[in-house]
Amino acid sequence: MNSNDLEKVLFTEEQIQKRVTELAEEIDNTYNGSPIFLVCILKGSTPFTVDLMKRLKSDVYLDFMAASSYGSGTTSMGQLTMTKDLTVDITGKDVIIVEDIIDSGNTLSRLLQYFQSRNPKTLTLCTLLDKPDRRVVHDVVVAYTGFVIPDKFVVGYGLDWDQRYRNLPYIGFVEE
Ligand code: IMP
Ligand code: MG
Repeated sequence: MNSNDLEKVLFTEEQIQKRVTELAEEIDNTYNGSPIFLVCILKGSTPFTVDLMKRLKSDVYLDFMAASSYGSGTTSMGQLTMTKDLTVDITGKDVIIVEDIIDSGNTLSRLLQYFQSRNPKTLTLCTLLDKPDRRVVHDVVVAYTGFVIPDKFVVGYGLDWDQRYRNLPYIGFVEE
């Protein structure tokens, strides 16, 4: 299977870039000049985080975290395993967690508990995609959402299928 096998393009590169620009404007307006601590959740959120930060006019600080619902790792957060922790102290900071997609909500729910325990001033979620039909955890409030999508498995622009397709500049469906 290669990129030509993708069933359907859901969002073109142009559509994604336009939406990311809008999100950056919304965030700039809300934070009104205060520094923003962006945390990119590896690996899927990388292209989104990079494009978003380039469009923000606020002072941006950047950090990365890697967490996985499966696989081997070092620090356990319930069913979530942290494979890379933050390198900056977020105490008292305005933090935005940048995610690629919220599906069941389990990952973000666990991440929120973890971040909250580090006492940021504010903690906000920004996700490129949201699949609300799949939600099982309902206490996750997302402030910034790029696109709401149907219950389909999507790849591209950071999102993978077995680690592939992350490099596509657009987002498409894979028929399973
Ligand atoms: P959740 O914990 O169920 O919300 O799952 C979130 C994670 O599942 C995301 O960070 C992705 O890594 C992965 N995921 C969920 N849906 C998709 C999809 O359609 N394509 C690629 N990865 C997905
Ligand atoms: Mg992910």
